Amino acid sequence: MHNATSGGRRAPARGRGGLLAAGALGAVAVAVTAVLVVALPREDSTGGELPALADAHGIGLGVAVAVNPLVHDDDYQDVVTGNYTSVTAENTMKWQYVQPERYEFDWSGPDAVVGFAEHHGLDVRGHTLLWHNQQPAWLSEGSWTEAELLKVMREHMDALLGRYQGRITTWDVINEPLVDAGPRLRENLWYQVLGEDYIAQALTMAHEVDPDARLYVNEFGIEGAGDKADALYDLVTDLLDRGVPLHGIGFQGHFVHGSVPEDMADQMRRYSDLGLDVTVSELDVRLPEPPGPEQLEAQAHEYQRVVEACLDVPTCVNVTVWGVSDHHSWIPEWFPGYTAALPFDDSYRPKPALAGMVQALERRPAQRRPGHRP
Ligand code: G3I
Repeated sequence: MHNATSGGRRAPARGRGGLLAAGALGAVAVAVTAVLVVALPREDSTGGELPALADAHGIGLGVAVAVNPLVHDDDYQDVVTGNYTSVTAENTMKWQYVQPERYEFDWSGPDAVVGFAEHHGLDVRGHTLLWHNQQPAWLSEGSWTEAELLKVMREHMDALLGRYQGRITTWDVINEPLVDAGPRLRENLWYQVLGEDYIAQALTMAHEVDPDARLYVNEFGIEGAGDKADALYDLVTDLLDRGVPLHGIGFQGHFVHGSVPEDMADQMRRYSDLGLDVTVSELDVRLPEPPGPEQLEAQAHEYQRVVEACLDVPTCVNVTVWGVSDHHSWIPEWFPGYTAALPFDDSYRPKPALAGMVQALERRPAQRRPGHRP
């Protein structure tokens, strides 16, 4: 179980010469907070509370969606429309699906997601343009000169960003530019052909195609301090110094239970201080099988802490969970032995994690922040 201070506002740092009295007061405050946390048990959530709360705080709360259940499953639709304010296409806007063969575009999935969102008044986060995964063979196995690959990039952006211009206003342009663990750039196709400047080139190009879109770099493993987090920060400051159009950083937030860092808000605030938006773009917290009530309760605290971290950062605009229900989560396929990572269970019943998010929003004074929510 997390300690009483980890879910709340961090106490301001004090110098070594701080007054004893201040220390004593701090201890009392921590104790009072601890009592409050114990004294206010989490109410179960029946679902449906989040959109109004998100609205009151001026942030978006999103969910990653798959096309098939979004179109065919009424219960799935109800969870999406009743609990969230934005959607991200979990897969269908990725290169593999949008342009499976060169110049052959399949808009059925993206159109279904955007149409559903518009029909229900939800925002859409665009995901994703340049990624090393889920590329079609013609692209990943092709032999490209710099000029050819830039042409391919431009054609794809013209098609995808152009089609949804003014309807999708936020895009993950660069997805996972760093190696899985460590401070180096990933040597993906784009890096191999264009060199490390591919990131600046892609952002600049996306800005040319849709000058009003909010353009993001989206990454995992940067939620707590470490050399990967610092490497991304250095990359971003370099891009900004060079005037490259970049508007936000996505903190993916794929956590294993027990790993939500204490300093997530600090890491996000670094970008806020640079004038960038931040978002928690792919939140889930996976539990070892089989999860019992204690694990689900602890998971609820972790969801709560992540939402609180967002509320603690002035330019955090959205928290998106990575799937509608545990049944639809990517976790069991990718992490055998882990499960139950999302706020709704296999049968679309709300879990304590949903109440954790609600509680984070209810306990903070609603302060409507301006700006762009998806
Ligand atoms: O397209 C095939 C389909 O033809 C086939 O019938 C079906 C059978 O299982 O598989 C389909 O492919 C699956 C694909 O998702 C679409 O559903 C793959 O097996 C599956 O591995 C793939 O996983 C996706 C993964 O990205 C790919 O790397 C996950 O659903 C998706 O949640 C995940 O999302 C990524 C974010 O985009 C970026 N950040 C990390 C995150 C988790 O990996």
